[in-house]
Amino acid sequence: MISRQIIRNLSKLNSTRLYSTSWWSNVQKGPEDPILGVSVAFNKDTSPSKINLGVGAYRDENGKPYVLESVRKADKKIFEANVDHEYAPIAGVATFNQLSAVLAFGEDSQHIKEKRIVTVQAISGTGALRIAAQFLARFMPGKTAYVPNPTWGNHNVIFADSGVAVKSYSYYNPSTCGLNFDGMFNDIKAAPNGSIILLHACAHNPTGVDPTAEQWKKISQLCKEKEHFVLFDFAYQGFASGSPEQDAQAVRQFVADGHNIALCQSFAKNFGLYGERIGAFSLLTATADEAVNVESQLKILIRPMYSNPPVYGARLVSTILKDKELTSQWRDEVKGMADRIINMRESLVKYLKKHGSTRDWSHITTQIGMFCYTGLTPEQVDRLASEFHIYLTRNGRISIAGINSSNVEYLAKAMHAVTKDN
Ligand SMILES: Cc1ncc(COP(=O)(O)O)c(C=O)c1O
Repeated sequence: MISRQIIRNLSKLNSTRLYSTSWWSNVQKGPEDPILGVSVAFNKDTSPSKINLGVGAYRDENGKPYVLESVRKADKKIFEANVDHEYAPIAGVATFNQLSAVLAFGEDSQHIKEKRIVTVQAISGTGALRIAAQFLARFMPGKTAYVPNPTWGNHNVIFADSGVAVKSYSYYNPSTCGLNFDGMFNDIKAAPNGSIILLHACAHNPTGVDPTAEQWKKISQLCKEKEHFVLFDFAYQGFASGSPEQDAQAVRQFVADGHNIALCQSFAKNFGLYGERIGAFSLLTATADEAVNVESQLKILIRPMYSNPPVYGARLVSTILKDKELTSQWRDEVKGMADRIINMRESLVKYLKKHGSTRDWSHITTQIGMFCYTGLTPEQVDRLASEFHIYLTRNGRISIAGINSSNVEYLAKAMHAVTKDN
């Protein structure tokens, strides 16, 4: 009989062997996501006055996550309909796809009527971008994608991981905290003809700086001349101005100018459906026949990635968008979120002035959407954390959604304290 001691020694030997022949011993620990790091530091802080301005999700006046009433009602309707849990088709829930396209391209879109727009459901905005990048890698091989500098950090990685080369075009002017329009224009002009140009449709993340309607027209014209392929990232429809139509202005301008665009939609922010991962990818094609071919190839691409998308978020969004009353309530609620953000911008500037700041903070109110590039330096950001328990990314970006009437004055005082001697 083998003694217990021998068994123990044998298992020790086995685990040592296993360990020394591990497949993964060469895998190095990767860096944390910088935004996640902000939340980790915030959670560790025990101060009652702490503020988290890193998080990219809307918060209500009490700093709490917000569930829209229209979403609650849709939820109830779905529950009462006693739905089944069958698979969605590869391209997702058809009604949802149709309604998403209408929301972005407009109710009177001629291209929808002509069946020239292909829309597939996606795993939120990130998933839509991933489908876009994989499709471009397959059907526009060798092209480079140009993204704004700075841009949402995931853009670069999504393209690179999909095998699409990425370069950037100028976008932000740190000396005005506004748009570097000439730089943007010249860089897009200098890109080889037929390049892929990624544009944030509204509420640019991370800067909150958008081109004006006139500037959009010029960019559209230039992209036409250069025969660039335009990909819009539309993650904040309704969230910027409070009006989904107003926020769709750039997308619709490019379409009216004859661009056959690609479009990535997210319903995370405007419906508050962050964790439901609901979005859409659309391609405007030249003909209805081309649309049929493109859709077949999108399905071929999607099938080995995740087979078919989850149904719940699509059911919520389509339940709202196909019901007049719910849609009207949703519009009011999106406007409510946008208005609260706009009010907080104004309030922050008011309190900065009240506490004696003489700096020009006008960019806080001219920038739009959830994020504001404050112009704070990394050192000033560090002081905000260590002396005032206020957390944000070191690029000076604040999420306005993290501000409310209880903490805005404290934030203004702190921002003034760290900037007054510079
Ligand atoms: C510019 C931009 N695009 C896309 C996304 C994707 O978000 P999600 O995948 O949560 O829809 C975000 C989220 O912050 C964003 O800011």
